[in-house]
Amino acid sequence: MKIKIYGINLYYEEYGSGMPILFLHGFPLDHTIWNPVIPLLEDRARLILPDLRGHGQTSSPDGVYQMAEIAEDMVQFIDELGIEKVILVGHSMGGYAALAFAKNHPSRLAGLGLVSTQAAADSPERRAGRYATIREVETNGTGKLADSMSARLTTRPELIPMIRRIILATNPAGIHGSLMGMAERPDMTDQLSMIKVPAVVIAGEADQINPLEKSEEMARLMPEGRLVVVPGAGHMPMLENPRVVAKAIAGLFKPG
Ligand code: MLT
Repeated sequence: MKIKIYGINLYYEEYGSGMPILFLHGFPLDHTIWNPVIPLLEDRARLILPDLRGHGQTSSPDGVYQMAEIAEDMVQFIDELGIEKVILVGHSMGGYAALAFAKNHPSRLAGLGLVSTQAAADSPERRAGRYATIREVETNGTGKLADSMSARLTTRPELIPMIRRIILATNPAGIHGSLMGMAERPDMTDQLSMIKVPAVVIAGEADQINPLEKSEEMARLMPEGRLVVVPGAGHMPMLENPRVVAKAIAGLFKPG
């Protein structure tokens, strides 16, 4: 399905009914990363899976995609769907956007899942790496990014071709806008103590992108935060061990 939000055509899919759970994928991925958790949760909740701006089948406007702007897209989106409060589950970049949503729209949040993400801003090295990736994609296209990133995202080699295909299909304008937005994102660590809803931090034990200590810290700083470490998983626990991820998310609500 498609819906118009701030001049962009936002693609999304929906499954099940009951408590709305809005799933935000990471960079440079799309809603299909959540596919393995759908059959595990759709009999208990309403699962809403958008492609974020610049990703998947959603439009890719030019410019910088601030994390707060992605959060505003999501507020407008749930307004259009007539939803008052959601459980928000954000993966990596989707987690950065989820934290911006939690800060700016706490009254719209019923629960928070932070998957393979962190509240800290980029280090100068990480920021420089993003600018280098922007130049690389502008010069040579998405091939090298797809090769290097897909291998770093997972501990399960059989998942690499699928992840690589999603990255290769991502619009270069979306890659540019997201990398710039992530590089410019503020540190949200101080906000964590203000997140009063049930929260779960889900971390792959062997994530090469986000260190486990950052997840431990986030869970500690949120008043109702809980940490679930997914054994053997990398940056993509929803693909690597969907059962553990679905169970952790189900802990955020009472089945309706
Ligand atoms: C993601 O998976 O969204 C990105 O790897 C996050 C990042 O680059 O910080």
